[in-house]
Amino acid sequence: MIVCVIGAGYVGLCTAAVLAKLGHETQCIDKDTEKMIRITQGSVPFFEPGLSELVAEQREAGRLYFSHTMDDCIGRASIIVIAVGTPPASDGSLDLSAVHAVVEKLSGLISSYKTIVTKSTVPPGTNEWIEQTLLDNGVDHQLFDIVSSPEFLREGTAIQDSLQPDRIVIGLKRREPLEVMQELYQNLNAPYVVTGFAEAEMIKYASNAFLATKISFINEISRICDVCGADIVDVSMGLGMDHRIGPHFLRAGLGYGGSCFPKDLNDLIHTALSRQIEPSLLQAVQKVNETQIDVYMQKLIAALEGDPPHKITVWGASFKPQTDDVRSSQSVRLLRRLSETGYNVHAYDPMVRPALPSVTWHHQMYDSVQDADALVIATEWDAFVQADWKLVKNRMKGKLLLDGRNCVNKHTVEACGIRYMGVGRT
Ligand code: UDX
Ligand code: UDX
Repeated sequence: MIVCVIGAGYVGLCTAAVLAKLGHETQCIDKDTEKMIRITQGSVPFFEPGLSELVAEQREAGRLYFSHTMDDCIGRASIIVIAVGTPPASDGSLDLSAVHAVVEKLSGLISSYKTIVTKSTVPPGTNEWIEQTLLDNGVDHQLFDIVSSPEFLREGTAIQDSLQPDRIVIGLKRREPLEVMQELYQNLNAPYVVTGFAEAEMIKYASNAFLATKISFINEISRICDVCGADIVDVSMGLGMDHRIGPHFLRAGLGYGGSCFPKDLNDLIHTALSRQIEPSLLQAVQKVNETQIDVYMQKLIAALEGDPPHKITVWGASFKPQTDDVRSSQSVRLLRRLSETGYNVHAYDPMVRPALPSVTWHHQMYDSVQDADALVIATEWDAFVQADWKLVKNRMKGKLLLDGRNCVNKHTVEACGIRYMGVGRT
């Protein structure tokens, strides 16, 4: 099959590389010319384990191409995948302008039959809108089908998630494009969920909302554990062993971030409110996440010893390990909050150093804790989990550690003379 993927962000580029690996001739387009030049020169613009290698492999195999204009590619392709970004808008909804721009452009380029697949996360009603807009723009209904095929990949494990999905969701109006989609995903061993547009769109939103709910649930329980003297790590393990609950997404911490959970939950709430539905559970999920940093910042501040000004070092800036993505990162929120409160803030992350007022970034992990009164782990990178705690203790002035991801061995740390505090564990 000849496939054209529009958008070379996290989702678009990973999707294009994976479709090429599945054997399809894949052209990936992005309007950002600079980005396309860099990728063609072998430099993937963000860090995703295995992606550079996969892109290089598929380019060498002659299956993956890049371009910055849709004009030459649309004619040849039988499948068009829309994977442009849908960032948050200021009113809590999603900014769909990139999707709108692509649909307008496509309207003038379709002259033979295409299956148009929406991978970008979009609110319910968008695929219906795409179909209607193409028709309104004069594209013959026999020349296209729209398929909603949301993506469930996680940053950091994107390739593995794409090659081994739990399920493949296909939202369509007519059954005919289903065969095309089965051929597109021919080598993927996963069950199909075939529905209408609105159900496919809602499955994506509901999945992200449910996962965010699990995290806020365990984070709320962690606050109660703190005051009851229970250890959330044990509580979480015991809870997750009930197969009706399951062990995943029950890690308490400083809250969820990233390009999906915060914005998708926000848009789901916005969608409900705009139709007079009070999404009180979803609003509570959001509230727990927004206040989690404050709760644990208070815990940290209350435990600080010595005279101000205190020096606090934060390890981690990305929204989770194995990525350089800082979109809606809780670590970045914490860094901002600490510096706004007047602390002398130092920071280290193995991958990324976002420009933040009054934060001093270090290139060496152990240098960053020199003379620090307290250390906070905000992202659970392996390097932090396996840190040399004797060295950390020797470098620090104070002895306080807030493990904001409950990722290090409490006993090892305490044996080195460091005072350990976790999220929902003392
Ligand atoms: C993706 C999905 O698209 C989004 O819906 C989901 O919720 C999160 O993941 P992501 O791939 O992370 O977004 O976005 P981003 O990294 O910003 O990449 C989007 C790309 O689309 C950019 O490279 C941008 O240049 C490109 N783009 C945007 C176009 O090629 N054409 C446009 O008209 C607009
Ligand atoms: C998420 C969804 O998992 C994926 O299916 C969807 O396609 C995109 O959004 P992603 O944002 O890449 O993927 O990362 P994910 O691993 O889901 O983590 C999201 C956030 O939740 C991170 O900040 C992470 O630290 C946090 N998290 C996750 C917790 O705090 N506790 C957990 O138990 C799991």
